[in-house]
Amino acid sequence: METLQHDVLIVGGGGAGLRAAIQVARGHPQASVGIVSKVYPMRSHTVSAEGGAAAVISEEDSLDAHAYDTISGSDWLADQDAVEVLVEEAPREMIQLEHWGCPWSRKPDGRVAVRPFGGMKLERTWFAADKTGFHLLHTLFQTSLQYRSIIRYDEWFVTSLIVEEGRCQGATAIEIRTGEMRAIGARAVILCTGGGGRVYPFTTNGNIKTGDGMALAYRSGVALKDMEFVQYHPTGLPGTGILITEAARGEGGILVNNEGRRYLQDYDLGEPLDVRDPNHPQKRTMELGPRDRLSQAFIHEREAGRTFSGPDGDYVHLDIRHLGRETIDKKLPMVRELAVRYVGIDPVAEPIPVRTVVHYMMGGIDTDIFGRTTLPGLFAAGECACVSVNGANRLGSNSLTEILVFGARAAEAALSHAGQVGPTEQSLLAESVAAERTRLDETLFRSNGGGETVAGIRTDLQTTLEEGAGIFRDERTLERACATITDLKKRYEKLVLVDTSRIFNTELIAALELGALLDVGEAIAHSALARAESRGSHQRFDHPERDDVGFLKHSLAYRTEGAPRIDYKEVTITRWPPGERVYGTA
Ligand code: FUM
Repeated sequence: METLQHDVLIVGGGGAGLRAAIQVARGHPQASVGIVSKVYPMRSHTVSAEGGAAAVISEEDSLDAHAYDTISGSDWLADQDAVEVLVEEAPREMIQLEHWGCPWSRKPDGRVAVRPFGGMKLERTWFAADKTGFHLLHTLFQTSLQYRSIIRYDEWFVTSLIVEEGRCQGATAIEIRTGEMRAIGARAVILCTGGGGRVYPFTTNGNIKTGDGMALAYRSGVALKDMEFVQYHPTGLPGTGILITEAARGEGGILVNNEGRRYLQDYDLGEPLDVRDPNHPQKRTMELGPRDRLSQAFIHEREAGRTFSGPDGDYVHLDIRHLGRETIDKKLPMVRELAVRYVGIDPVAEPIPVRTVVHYMMGGIDTDIFGRTTLPGLFAAGECACVSVNGANRLGSNSLTEILVFGARAAEAALSHAGQVGPTEQSLLAESVAAERTRLDETLFRSNGGGETVAGIRTDLQTTLEEGAGIFRDERTLERACATITDLKKRYEKLVLVDTSRIFNTELIAALELGALLDVGEAIAHSALARAESRGSHQRFDHPERDDVGFLKHSLAYRTEGAPRIDYKEVTITRWPPGERVYGTA
C-alpha cells in the first residue's frame, strides 16, 4: 500500500484550510502539508461569502471598539481572550491578503474602502465589491500554489479520524473518483470543514456544508460547543435561499413590510449606529442591527400579518432603488445579478423579496485560542470550530476574519505539536483502512432490506430542526425534535444505497454526509433543550429572559451511544463585564 504521510494534514480546502496550509508552508518549508477536500478548493463555500471581512483600519476606530461590538453582539457569550486575538490580528491579515493580491475595493483617493455592517457601530468591513469570498478564496488558493510542500487530495472524502495511543494520527478517506479507501498519516490534523447549515431546509449554505468535520471530532470524543446557536440571516432570496448580502443594507438599503412601512423602527435593535460619515444614509441602527434581532423582527411582522406571501413562503421587501444604478453596479453588482437571475427582479427598479434564512453556526468543535481540541493532535479552525468569538450571535463580516486569524494560529499550534511526535506507523494505517472498508461494507453497502433513502431521512431531519429548533423554540418543540432525531438515527441504520458501484458514487457520499448531519442535528437539539434561557440566536418562548446566573456558560455536547451528554464550561471574561445589549430607542 502506498504510504501517505504528512507533518500536518488539513481537512477542508476553503479559506481556513488554505490559510492554515500557507502558514505552515511559508514559515516551515521543510514541513509537509496535506490538504484533503471533498471538493476542488475553489468550490469551497468560502467562495460564496459576499459582504466583507471586519478589521480596524481608520483612526476613529479602535481595537477595543471592534472587540466591544463583537462581545455585546454575542450577547456576552464570546470568550473575550479569543475576541481580543481576533481584533488584534485582523488588520495584519487583511494587509497581508492585499500583498498576496486580494483586490480590496478602494476609496477615490486610493485608500482601502470599508463599509458599515450589522452590529458594527463603525465602518470596518473590508470588501471586494460584493464578491469578497470569491476574491479572498482566489487569493489564498493562488498563493497556496507557490508551495511545493502543499500536497492536495481534491475530491477525497474523510470518513474517520485515526486515533491511537490517545492522539489523532491521521484520517481515512475515500478517493471519490475510484472509490478506494485510503489512509493518510499525520502528526497533526486540522479540521477546517465549515459549518453544517444543510441540517435545515432553507439555508444560504451550499450543498457541501454538512457538518462533516464537526461529526468527525464528535465521534472521536471531542465536545461540540454552543451548538444551540444557529444564525438566521434576515435577507435570503425566497425559493433558493441565496444570500442577499448585508452589504446592501450597509450601503443604505431598507426593509419594508406589506404596509410600506420601514418596520424596524418599531423594534429595539441595539445601540444607535455611529457611522461617522455625515452623508451616510444610515444613522440609526435599524437595518444594521444584529442579525438575531432582525430575524426575530421578521417573525413578529409575519405573525402580525404584515409580510407578503408568495409561492416560496412569506417575505418582506429590501429596497435599494434609492442608491441608484451607478452605486448598485459598482458596490453591489452581484446583488443585482442574483435578483435578476433568481427572482426576475431588477433592484434598480423594484424592491427585492427577502426572508430569513439559516446562514451560520456559531457553535462547533470546542477549541482553545490556538485551535487545540481536547484530543492531542487534533485542531480545528473556521466555522466548524467554536473558539469562541461569536458567542450567541455572530456579527456579519467577522467570519472571514476568523478563518484567517484562527486558520493561521491553528497551523502554528499543529506544527508545534507535530514537532513532538513521530510519524504514524504503517501498520496502523493499514489496519485503519481495512477497518473502515469493513465498516462501510457492513453498513451502507450491505443489503439490509430497510428501504430507507438518503433523501427521505434528510428531508425529515431538516423539517424537524426547522420546526423544533428554529428562530423561536420551547421545551415542547425541542423535546419533539430530540425524539424524532433518535428515530431518524435508527432509520439511518436501515438506509439502502441504490448505487452500489464504487466509482464516483455520489449517493454514498450523500449518505456519509447525512450521517454527519444527524450528529450535528442531535447536538443542536439537545443543547438547545438544556439551555433554559434566551440569548442571542437562541430564543425560548418558555424562558424569554437571558439568565447569566444559570447560563453565562458554554454548552458542551458529548456523543454517547444514546442521547448526547450535555456539560458546561465557563465563558472567559477579560475586560468587558456582562451587560445588557442596550436596546436604545430607535
Ligand atoms: O451578508 C453577508 O454578506 C454576510 C456576511 C457574513 O455572514 O459575514
